[in-house]
Amino acid sequence: VTDDNSRGEFLGPLFVEDKVSGNSYYYPKGIYYVMDYFKTKYGDPLIYVTENGFSTPSSENREQAIADYKRIDYLCSHLCFLRKVIKEKGVNVRGYFAWALGDNYEFCKGFTVRFGLSYVNWEDLDDRNLKESGKWYQRFINRTVKNSAKQDFLRSSLSSQSQKKRLADA
Ligand SMILES: *[C@@H]1O[C@H](CO)[C@@H](O)[C@H](O)[C@H]1NC(C)=O
Repeated sequence: VTDDNSRGEFLGPLFVEDKVSGNSYYYPKGIYYVMDYFKTKYGDPLIYVTENGFSTPSSENREQAIADYKRIDYLCSHLCFLRKVIKEKGVNVRGYFAWALGDNYEFCKGFTVRFGLSYVNWEDLDDRNLKESGKWYQRFINRTVKNSAKQDFLRSSLSSQSQKKRLADA
């Protein structure tokens, strides 16, 4: 539940800068360790990941909010490590829910952050747009898309940018 390790170092590179709500750091491998810990510590329970996502400041305009390619990288890298821990450790994960379906009222933070795969206009709640991450997720969970194609969905665009290699390796 912390951003830093026992030596006071951040676990991963800065992912989203947010002076109001606090910065996010990128550490997708964390989900691997957490799942493995639950399995070992609590006797191999059934696991449903009920919230996995991150927020961006709601000061972003609609266009900025919709072009959320970072959220695609976030989701696909976490899903990748989730698949890895299921395969390697036999963790009994039965469900995964991206947080959240749409921008929502966040406890303690109200409407100051956006967590959604869909953009929601706070002034008119019927006014919504699927973000790029929502489109990606729609294809990812589509039963009729072949699994071989889905392998590519789990390849973060960050891994192909050598200058950002640290992000992909984090
Ligand atoms: C799922 O994929 C199929 C094949 O590409 C496509 O025809 C269909 O519209 C998709 N469904 C959704 C809900 O996106």
